[in-house]
Amino acid sequence: MDYQQYVDFDKGLVDRRIFTDQEIFDLEMERIFARAWNFVVHESQIPNVGDYFMNQIGSDRVIAVRNKQKEVSVLVNSCTHRGNAVCRAEQGNTRTFLCPYHGWSFGLDGALVGVPGLKDFYRGGLDKEKLGLDQAAQVASYKGFVFATMDPDAVPLEEYLGDVGRVGLSLVAQHGDVEVVDGIQKNVVGCNWKLAVDNLYDWYHPPISHKSGVLSDYAPVFRDPDVFKPHKQMVMLGEYGHGIGGPHWTADEVEQFMQPDAELDPRFAPRLDPALSSEMGEVGIRSNGHPNLFPNLWVTLGGMQVCLRIPKDPLHTELWWFTFVPKDAPDEIRKMIVGLTTHTFGPAGLIEQDDGENWEGCTRGSLGVVNRRRRHHMAMGLGKDEVLEDGGQARVETVVNEHGQRWTYQAWADWMSAKDWPELKAQHTPVPRGTI
Ligand code: FES
Ligand code: FE
Repeated sequence: MDYQQYVDFDKGLVDRRIFTDQEIFDLEMERIFARAWNFVVHESQIPNVGDYFMNQIGSDRVIAVRNKQKEVSVLVNSCTHRGNAVCRAEQGNTRTFLCPYHGWSFGLDGALVGVPGLKDFYRGGLDKEKLGLDQAAQVASYKGFVFATMDPDAVPLEEYLGDVGRVGLSLVAQHGDVEVVDGIQKNVVGCNWKLAVDNLYDWYHPPISHKSGVLSDYAPVFRDPDVFKPHKQMVMLGEYGHGIGGPHWTADEVEQFMQPDAELDPRFAPRLDPALSSEMGEVGIRSNGHPNLFPNLWVTLGGMQVCLRIPKDPLHTELWWFTFVPKDAPDEIRKMIVGLTTHTFGPAGLIEQDDGENWEGCTRGSLGVVNRRRRHHMAMGLGKDEVLEDGGQARVETVVNEHGQRWTYQAWADWMSAKDWPELKAQHTPVPRGTI
């Protein structure tokens, strides 16, 4: 099946059926999530042997656990006997995972280590070696972010991330030695996962959608009428669907943040560690936009938060919010970061409540018979911008636009059409050059 038919990249139109159809959703689980490198845990969440964190890769629950070799194993949370979950807690520390149904137990590396009645009932008829938990085909870490893929043919993580993905994660890592604040905030929104993803590139909606949140003055930084910088936008597009879109700093502003006495102010004015920032390149370091690591990891608030958009079914998405603080941050900065982040995004976030309603409305709208005849319109800026390559990474510097959204759906069509990783690697759309 050619999934390119659902996306007209040249006109900026997307078929609304991809937001509601169960069959398409099921194939997304296979062709996108079971193939991609998925963020599963940050190293700071599982520092000790036996520490684990439960996450999800597409339709499979997985456990990321620090094994006895101090590496991270990513195990499928499903007993090899009848499929029951072997871990029910969202995070913790353990020596084994014990299935609550018949009591099979599994080690931190996934090996089947205990079977009640092995001698008396199985009487030599069970090959324990073959019944360890299924595991991710590859696990790798970049700057503290642990990713896993279920596909042995996936390209190595660093190649997958490319320049744009690496800059995206560096927005967090450039703050130095950071850790995830305990307590991942989770809530379900009645929307298709892709609508939550494409919104992160959308700097068109904030002055309208978030007007009431801004007027409430919960974050004084929003008093600045130019805070969303609609005339100072930068877009970087990366291989396999990654992107960064949104406001950017000037070189002078970056210089200021680099000063050793610059104050750490997470509200859009980060202190930067020159040693950690240098590999972002002179363009990457000017980015203050929103990276998405395809398919569903959003880096936001200047690298103080990341959000996973976890698909539950075509019409529901669970959002998981991870908040980062520098390990050496004084208490008042820690409080400021947690206060700002929890009042912006997540279940108590003023801003995300606005967003959630919009995404839900767009998803429900896509169910209508007449409505499905019309396609999503995302043609803002189409054919109006030049990709700049004058030193540093390729990017567009322009006004508010929909380049990131179009790129996301083009990548979606590439992933859905390719039958395996070799085909995806050979045939995915190259990063645009020239006029876009
Ligand atoms: Fe796990 Fe039977 S289902 S022990
Ligand atoms: Fe928003």
